[in-house]
Amino acid sequence: MKLKSEINCIIKEAFQKAGIEIQTVMVTEATKPEFGDFQFNGIMSLAKTLKKNPRELAQKLLPHIDLTGVIAKVEVAGPGFINVWLRPSWVALKCEEALQDERLGVAKHENPIKVVVDYSGPNMAKQMHVGHLRSTIIGDTLANLLVYLGDEVIRQNHIGDWGTQFGMLIAYLEEQGSSGSGSLKDLEQFYKEAKVRFDTDISFANKAREYVVKIQSGDQHCLNLWQKFIDISLGHCEDVYGKLCIKLTREDVKAESFYNEDLPNVIEDLIAQGLLKESDGAQCVFLEGEEIPVIVQKGDGGYLYATTDLAALRYRANVLGAKRICYVVDARQSEHFRQVFTVAKESGFVSKEVRLEHVAFGTMMDKSGRPFKTRDGGTVKLVDLLDEAVLRAKESIKDKENLEPEELENLAKIIGIGAVKYADLSINRESNYVFDWGKMLSFEGNTSLYMQYAYARIQSIFRRFGKEIKRRIVIGDEIEHRLGVMLLRFEDMLYRAAEDTAPHHITGYLYELATLFTRFYEQNPILKEEVCEETQMSRLALAQLTGRTIKEGLDILGIEVVDRI
Ligand code: ARG
Repeated sequence: MKLKSEINCIIKEAFQKAGIEIQTVMVTEATKPEFGDFQFNGIMSLAKTLKKNPRELAQKLLPHIDLTGVIAKVEVAGPGFINVWLRPSWVALKCEEALQDERLGVAKHENPIKVVVDYSGPNMAKQMHVGHLRSTIIGDTLANLLVYLGDEVIRQNHIGDWGTQFGMLIAYLEEQGSSGSGSLKDLEQFYKEAKVRFDTDISFANKAREYVVKIQSGDQHCLNLWQKFIDISLGHCEDVYGKLCIKLTREDVKAESFYNEDLPNVIEDLIAQGLLKESDGAQCVFLEGEEIPVIVQKGDGGYLYATTDLAALRYRANVLGAKRICYVVDARQSEHFRQVFTVAKESGFVSKEVRLEHVAFGTMMDKSGRPFKTRDGGTVKLVDLLDEAVLRAKESIKDKENLEPEELENLAKIIGIGAVKYADLSINRESNYVFDWGKMLSFEGNTSLYMQYAYARIQSIFRRFGKEIKRRIVIGDEIEHRLGVMLLRFEDMLYRAAEDTAPHHITGYLYELATLFTRFYEQNPILKEEVCEETQMSRLALAQLTGRTIKEGLDILGIEVVDRI
């Protein structure tokens, strides 16, 4: 139910009837219940252009607003705002319709497009770190959301599998023989050991360098070693994906090396476009008004991160046919993406109407405000972090109910992993994010546990009720009215989150919804004797729709619910 456009249309019609010209009408949610359900604030700027008094203009419009259907009441407030109250019976009807619908009344895009979501992108030479954790969580949610809204989503895992470090790593892997894969359990350690060998043994270092050249020229023995190394390393990442219930598969991996063959063409095509200039032996694109160029080929012939991304961009736009490409990558790479996007458009690699977006996110900090590291300054192993989340979740629920050990295990996983994901998704992604176990695993506040708890509570109402419900809603009072309107806002909110690539709109909405539900449930008993059947059924229907909305919302965030906590 596109609630806002429904109201926008009615107000737009009123403008027409009143003979006042206006381009677009956009209502917003009322900031306080006293101001109604929605408000229209566009009169002020219109009055300014028309050189009219805003209140008078609003008064002139008012009688033309149709009050026979969706809207029950309007009012001019303050300097010329128009407050809008929806008709309770209409809200009830729409909620009933949502309840009948598998998708809760959420329509799919009228014109779905192909969207590439580039996320996770760990580097194979090193342990996956917290920056990749954020990319993985946010990217997966974004992909889920777009799929839900009907787009054709192509997930792309742009793993870093190419570069000079691999010479050293595969030389060491070979030296380790069959025990190599064993010591590769800990990639960080393996890297350190290889580096020590490289720094202390000249013949090893030479071999490593030789192997770099060999993989680049397609030597089969070295390529096999390299492939083995990548397989093991990617396997580590897949452990993390598995624990996090992330939907990335091997098919989604389009590694940096995938674009190798196209890199000389990228350079040639840029030359043909007259975009390349040599500077200090390197091939560069100088963008208008910028001093620092984008380097696409080094003096020694080597290619760069940007070259690969240019190749990837045109592959995605032209071969995959994407009309929107979202890069879920650390904010520190903004410059890089701004530049490659500009080059891609200027060179015509990607046509003008393809939407290129850097979905940037901030750094993960510890509670004292420093970048998240282990005590000795190393990178935190994600697998350990996730195991700790599950352990802590178990600790916090172990005395809750007499759970079977298996149930406890499963519940701890759902709660622990949900907490890590939700905490990340609930802040504006561009801000730095403080990782705080206590806050994340709290039953209060905007947390996954609060949401999972609200859901479980609703399920328990239905368990106790134990019968089929009639889906007839009668809005009985203000809190029910607000809950109904909130439920109808679900679709608008999802579309906005997709447009802004902002998962925190979803968590923010769910939090408001769950809070409103809690108040409703406290004020309006459902299962008490004295409640008449009609009221009971109506409240049950509102509860059911709330439960389903929470579940659907969490599902898009990749977070599971449970029937009891
Ligand atoms: N491997 C990169 C890193 O760890 C992230 C890749 C992002 N995707 C891209 N197409 N550049 O920083």
